[in-house]
Amino acid sequence: MDFTAKTGSAATVRTDCAVVGIYKDGRLSEAAREIDVVTDKLVSGLVKSGDFRGQPGSTLLVPKPAGLGARRLLLVGLGEAGKLDLKAWRKAHGAAVKVLLGTGAREAFSFLSSETVADADPYTLARHAAEAAEETAYRFDEMKSVVETPPSKFNRLTMWVADRKAQSAASLGFKHGQGVAEGQSLARRLGNLPGNVCTPAFLAAEAKKLASAHQGLKVSVLEQAQMKKLGMNALLSVSQGSRQPPKLIVLEWRGGPKQKAPVAMVGKAITFDTGGICIKPAPAMDEMKFDMCGGASVIGTMATVARLNLPINVIGLVPAAENMPDGLASRPGDIVTTMSGQTVEILNTDAEGRLILCDALTYARRYKPATVVDIATLTGACVIALGHHLSGLMSNDDSLADELLRAGVEAEDRAWHLPIGADYDEQLKSNFADFANVAGRDAGAITAACFLNRFTRDLSWAHLDIAGTAWKSGQAKGGTGRPVPLLAQFLMSRAGVA
Ligand code: BES
Ligand code: MN
Ligand code: ZN
Repeated sequence: MDFTAKTGSAATVRTDCAVVGIYKDGRLSEAAREIDVVTDKLVSGLVKSGDFRGQPGSTLLVPKPAGLGARRLLLVGLGEAGKLDLKAWRKAHGAAVKVLLGTGAREAFSFLSSETVADADPYTLARHAAEAAEETAYRFDEMKSVVETPPSKFNRLTMWVADRKAQSAASLGFKHGQGVAEGQSLARRLGNLPGNVCTPAFLAAEAKKLASAHQGLKVSVLEQAQMKKLGMNALLSVSQGSRQPPKLIVLEWRGGPKQKAPVAMVGKAITFDTGGICIKPAPAMDEMKFDMCGGASVIGTMATVARLNLPINVIGLVPAAENMPDGLASRPGDIVTTMSGQTVEILNTDAEGRLILCDALTYARRYKPATVVDIATLTGACVIALGHHLSGLMSNDDSLADELLRAGVEAEDRAWHLPIGADYDEQLKSNFADFANVAGRDAGAITAACFLNRFTRDLSWAHLDIAGTAWKSGQAKGGTGRPVPLLAQFLMSRAGVA
């Protein structure tokens, strides 16, 4: 989609559709009032008759409004007057785009940006306008032989700005928003592809495609034989029950000063998680194709970094494997020696994410990273704790945790800080190995993080548990592309560009 910022009057602008806001108490936005004047009270009439109430995210499309330069008028509910924040604004904007995609309009001029939005400047509004529009326009139909609804003609959105200065801020916002959206859409696509297509080898091939499309983005893939040599026995213990060979994908972007230590991102990519010998129950097991969404978010974020040519050094590591039960699969009670030298008793073969991550985290050390962030659909316990709204954040470095939390707020892709510590860590005790890969039901998201922290003690490290946020279930089943917006914002802030 194309985005531009212009100034203009809602009453006279020539467009396929003018988009204006109405508040919950029926109060008209400034643009709606301008329109009301030249349309013989069309808008206030719709409010009075009760046909439009301004509920947040509600919409009403008015075709051929007499007296306007616009071919259509789209009313959008902004909720309570005086309480419009970025989240509500983004929701209203997304609702508008959803309607526009279903009309014959090719473009639209939105005046929603002329309202006062708490803590938002033209850059921020433009950034979120682009991200929300692309998020709404995203479709996944590459696995359908027949596409039910034809693609929309709608491909250009103009956003109102007050002046030149706001216009150039908005241009940058659009550029960044489109960059983030590109990475997020890629992560969604990889998540949505089924386990028989999106294998470790497929992910490696996609990473190679991405690297060849972006100058300066380098890729290498570690194969099983190299993993054996490096002693990645925890990672290999997961893939050994599958016909799909594991891959460790390494994406490298050196946009920053040569000597500067990179940020390393490590994303769990279990391309399908059956649970292994500790097999999962059948209901919703199909959703375990999404168990590679941490890895997908790393690949997606690297796409954003390269697309925006960010002046920062970043390493993306994606350990990819399939967790299957067969004659060679790990048994409960098996003990493996990790690449770090520590031994682990695999008490539950369904706690496989931490097993592939621990060796990838150890491998990350060779890049001497300033910061390591891992991203994983790691525990059902995190979904119990936080539901589907916030990602879980655990860290051994409070200032890094704060930085990530702030990035989540700015990106509208929030996380919540959960504790780690010795009391929880003790639950990992094993009678036979250095420690076990599970620690009982209590605080499952936290003890999983404690397991990872045994491999990152002397690093500045954070862990994002995205089990509740990486995809949606039910009617809207599909990948969300989270936390690409959070990660992209984190890197953009570090790079000093946003
Ligand atoms: N991929 C799952 C976590 C998961 C489950 C994410 C459901 C989203 C929805 C992970 O590999 C897993 O199975 N974790 C176990 C850990 C347990 C055995 C300690 C879990 O959460 O049950
Ligand atoms: Mn599992
Ligand atoms: Zn898993």
